[in-house]
Amino acid sequence: MFSVGQITKMLSLQGSGMDALLAEAHRVRVAATGECIRPRGLIEYSNLCRKNCLYCGIRSGMDGVGRYTLSEGQVMEAARRAVREGLGSVVIQAGEVTTREHIEAIERLVREIKLITPESAGVDPVRARGWSSSPGVTLSLGEQSLDVYRRWADAGASRYLLRIEASDEKLYRTLHPHDGRHSYRRRIEALENLRKAGYQVGTGVMIGLPGQNAGHLAADLLFMQRADIDMCGMGPYVECAGTPLAGLSLPPARWRVDMTLKMTAVLRLMMPDINIAAATALETLDPHARSRALSGGANVVMPNVTPRDARSEYRLYDNKEYVPDFKIDDYDVCKGAAGDSIHFEKKLKNI
Ligand code: 5AD
Ligand code: SF4
Repeated sequence: MFSVGQITKMLSLQGSGMDALLAEAHRVRVAATGECIRPRGLIEYSNLCRKNCLYCGIRSGMDGVGRYTLSEGQVMEAARRAVREGLGSVVIQAGEVTTREHIEAIERLVREIKLITPESAGVDPVRARGWSSSPGVTLSLGEQSLDVYRRWADAGASRYLLRIEASDEKLYRTLHPHDGRHSYRRRIEALENLRKAGYQVGTGVMIGLPGQNAGHLAADLLFMQRADIDMCGMGPYVECAGTPLAGLSLPPARWRVDMTLKMTAVLRLMMPDINIAAATALETLDPHARSRALSGGANVVMPNVTPRDARSEYRLYDNKEYVPDFKIDDYDVCKGAAGDSIHFEKKLKNI
């Protein structure tokens, strides 16, 4: 177990020290989770959101956002396309919506997606040999009641991503309005409920936030270890014009990129067998950074399979829409694999 001091020291490495840290994380990742990278097709289902997080480009108070929700047909087409391309797993992501229609729509979609097979999606059976017969389904749909989490799990979703965003309660409070809809305690409770509902649980933070320091980042990593997470998605904070946090003083982009790479590498050393995603936000700040993350401890990548016209409206931060498509053929990708968290599987077997 690393101490705060040891973690802070690793996070301060630069140059060849940082290169060595990333190389060690890569070695640990390959030994614990295998050589190939696990892909998930990301479906940005809706940019409606009841929350108003101060950093986010689709916050409820943001003007000029063309709000959309994909049709069920569009989602199914995107999911089939993901399967055809060898992405054996999909992530359904949206803002936080808690209406009955939304809850039922997600439930139906999960059930339908679980019925897709490589053959029904149009993959040649020979090519699909060894592929998962049903796609893995991850949800990233914000805070919901335990009952809703259970319904979606019963429908077939097996993983859920809910970032804590900042594990320090004080910092969390500077990033969210104090209006009764943004409670740190409730977010922690939601993470606990996801466990109760049986999901592989993923969380993560933003890196380089206004007001955040090295101590916060070390504490974030220890928070994830204590929570015994199965998956992690963390990325650099990227300013979004028009949000309340825009214009505050920030570490330079280079610093945020390097710190995200080091956070990824250190988390890998702390939790060798979890799934860690290489953040898309990295690519926004540096065209080579996502690929560096994948050779520095990350083992998950989420190519966007959302229909093009909706994609530009799912704008969490500036320039997100200009990130080029991830080319899975440029990497050693686990084609057709559902890609469950090995950490989670090991825990199940010990029960
Ligand atoms: N910069 C980086 N990440 C952001 N997110 C939202 N806004 C921003 C931003 N400005 C992230 C949050 C959320 C995820 C879906 O997108 O961490 O959990
Ligand atoms: Fe909504 Fe998520 Fe953006 Fe917060 S970060 S406003 S919950 S989409």
